[in-house]
Amino acid sequence: MADLDDLRDGSDFGLDKAVELSGYFMKGSNNNSWGFKDRMSRIFRPDTGKSVMLAFDHGFIMGPTSGVERIDLSILPLAPYADCLMASRGVIKSCIPPTFNKPICLRSDAGTSILTELNHNVTMDVQNAVALNASAMAVMLAIGDPSTEAKTVANLYKLVDQAEKFGMPVMAVTAVGKDMARDARYFGLASRICAENGASIVKTYYTEGFENVVACCPVPIVIAGGKKLAELEALELCYRAIQCGAAGVDMGRNVFQSENPVAMIQAVGGVVHDGLSPEEGFEKFNDLKNTV
Ligand code: 5RP
Repeated sequence: MADLDDLRDGSDFGLDKAVELSGYFMKGSNNNSWGFKDRMSRIFRPDTGKSVMLAFDHGFIMGPTSGVERIDLSILPLAPYADCLMASRGVIKSCIPPTFNKPICLRSDAGTSILTELNHNVTMDVQNAVALNASAMAVMLAIGDPSTEAKTVANLYKLVDQAEKFGMPVMAVTAVGKDMARDARYFGLASRICAENGASIVKTYYTEGFENVVACCPVPIVIAGGKKLAELEALELCYRAIQCGAAGVDMGRNVFQSENPVAMIQAVGGVVHDGLSPEEGFEKFNDLKNTV
């Protein structure tokens, strides 16, 4: 019990000042709980509204692919420069020191590997993600894939039912089947379906006409990087996505397979948060490359 001696009545009620009823800074998030917004604010920087998420969940499908053979050696040096870490629970628990205190976007579905086609993934319980102090859960949707579309949409739908009880944002990751056209029409359709079914963040791919994909999606979109590009090209990809209204990137290979990943993630940060052009980002990359 607090000390009752010298208990002072409050007097500064600010009656001449209206309470500021400002909206929340992330698109589509305002009607969610305090816990949800706290989690989103850990992923997306409140000063820029954007995020550099570092994706290194590739092993959950691809095994020890190039750049993620040893998470301790390749990823840990990058973590200080990322706004959020995206990985599977196995890697988070075994390789990421909890003292890093970085927000986690937890890969929360499983059931597919590169040895087969897209599969009927299952999802993790939200309680497990809460126990890992995740700031978001991520599951894939295979829109347009005849054999897995229904299951993966249902996965998102059911996960959101549970996640809302815990104030847990769910990121939907659009998996592109082999027969899908990778154009704005497809990504606009897939992203919108993700949002309509409750995703609070959508991860998809940049394409020509991306401004339409962003405009018709009522929640923030982050882009995946895709296969490794030359550094300047990767920075151009980030720049174009941000110009079209993306809320950031969730990149893996274009960072950890770079000739200098520590320099690259900082250059990406310059483009995402500081408004650098691709050329300025590339200059930053080259400057840092010689020092780190
Ligand atoms: C796959 C994913 C990956 O994290 C995603 O592909 C990001 O990595 P990259 O930038 O290497 O494409 O979500 O489902």
